[in-house]
Amino acid sequence: MAKLLVIYASDYGNTKKAAEVVAGGAKSVPGTEVVLLQAEKVKAEDALAADAIIVGSPVHMGSMDWRIKTFIDRVCGGLWMKDAMIGKVGAVFATGSGYGDTGGGAELTMLSMLNNFAELGMIIVPLPKNTPGYPKGGLQWGAYARSAGENLEQTGVSEDSLAAAKNHGANVARLAAALKGAKVFGG
Ligand SMILES: Cc1cc2nc3c(=O)[nH]c(=O)nc-3n(C[C@H](O)[C@H](O)[C@H](O)COP(=O)(O)O)c2cc1C
Repeated sequence: MAKLLVIYASDYGNTKKAAEVVAGGAKSVPGTEVVLLQAEKVKAEDALAADAIIVGSPVHMGSMDWRIKTFIDRVCGGLWMKDAMIGKVGAVFATGSGYGDTGGGAELTMLSMLNNFAELGMIIVPLPKNTPGYPKGGLQWGAYARSAGENLEQTGVSEDSLAAAKNHGANVARLAAALKGAKVFGG
């Protein structure tokens, strides 16, 4: 059984909703166990127990939320020193208001989280363009949902913009199951 940990930070509920949809997609893959946690509550043992970790952030000032970066430093930093995250599967998602349509900083937010995963030696999962929902809810880096309208009025994330999130969760769950027990790195 593959164990997935879905982590998020959220002030207004949009990224929390996206996290729930990602977790639901992962759970739809038979034999997958999913734990959903706010970034502040994640302990080292939660990360250690997971075969795959999916992290979601709101775009804040063009980059990731401070609570996600704190999780990376507080929890993953110590595990990095022990090589304990190497070979785990990692994926990301984000929500944003959509400045400049996609959202100023959405790609940087996702890429900077993926950069942290690469530093940890994790196996990064992209969002392939044939994923259902991709045209409205994704970039190659992961799922992205827009939480504001044309005039940046708050609309909440629509099911439409979350369509890829569910499938991203399922993709990660299938890959984690396929790799479970495999020793990929380290010779
Ligand atoms: C302090 C702050 C900075 C933000 N900066 C950006 C930004 O640079 N680009 C963007 O597209 N959205 C930006 N937003 C909008 C949020 O990313 C968006 O509303 C997101 O969906 C909020 O997620 P949450 O409901 O989970 O808190 C910002 C919001 C806040 C509160």
